[in-house]
Amino acid sequence: MKKDLLAINDFNQEEILDLFEKSADLKEKRQKGIQHLPLKGKTLGMIFNKHSTRTRISFEVGMFELGGHALFLSGNQLQLNRGETIRDSAQVLSRYLNGILIRTYDHKEVVALAEHATIPVINGLTDFNHPLQILSDIFTIKEKLGGIEGVKVAYVGDGNNVAYSWMMGASLMGMQLVIACPKSCQSHLAPSLGDNDKVEIIEDPFEAVKKADIIYTDVWISMGEEKDTENKKKLLLPYQINQKLVDHAKKDVMVMHCLPAHREMEITSEVLDGEHSIVFDQAENRLHVQKAILEKLLSPSQS
Ligand code: CP
Ligand code: NVA
Repeated sequence: MKKDLLAINDFNQEEILDLFEKSADLKEKRQKGIQHLPLKGKTLGMIFNKHSTRTRISFEVGMFELGGHALFLSGNQLQLNRGETIRDSAQVLSRYLNGILIRTYDHKEVVALAEHATIPVINGLTDFNHPLQILSDIFTIKEKLGGIEGVKVAYVGDGNNVAYSWMMGASLMGMQLVIACPKSCQSHLAPSLGDNDKVEIIEDPFEAVKKADIIYTDVWISMGEEKDTENKKKLLLPYQINQKLVDHAKKDVMVMHCLPAHREMEITSEVLDGEHSIVFDQAENRLHVQKAILEKLLSPSQS
């Protein structure tokens, strides 16, 4: 049976740890120049209704490196965006492709696509969540710290799709997550809080970063939310990742940002380019982890 990745908890903890082993192996193979072509003859269709640098390029390169092919499908050039139903599109795409990556606004579209497609569907970001990002980020943390259990992550900023995936990821992997976010930016996060005592949502960024191993942030204005720019900029100014905030965390705290960054807004250049930042290692790991995901979903018998 085909398997989709629509949210982090489509995998269990054991599957995620396996995925990380595979990612490390693929990373090492690439560094040593060892060819590994398990997806020979397979094609991934990549539907983008929003901008992307990392997701698009790492998937395209990843498919190529695994011996397969990636097709970039700009949403506004597909019949899908001029009225062809998701159901029909899913059935047609399933006849041509071996997998679909989709980045769009409404998460329900991705769920419907997965329901009607007979091939794996991978969520490349919706307004609701961004599972690929957080899976890869947890891999980066494991790589840097040697383990993830009990690691404290302070997410400081907007309560958005990335923050939501952090809640799912941290709960699943036994990490401690404190999200610092203004009350009025927390509504997206509320439904998933449940009674998980490892995830806390507070308002004070300084409290959140106390004893943190990781400080994490994302843009204040997510794609599609531009109308709220001026309001959010004012609200979130106290949540900027700057040196003063970093000084309140552990001495060896690492700073992460899923990128793209808006320098001097959610993070200062001093921190982004500073000694605590691991953002470019973090960006690189998108490639390795996604290759492992592609191999797992598109060629399950070999992975
Ligand atoms: N972090 C991330 O998903 O980047 P892109 O929007 O460039 O794909
Ligand atoms: N929260 C951001 C993430 C970009 C990778 C957005 O949705 O635009």
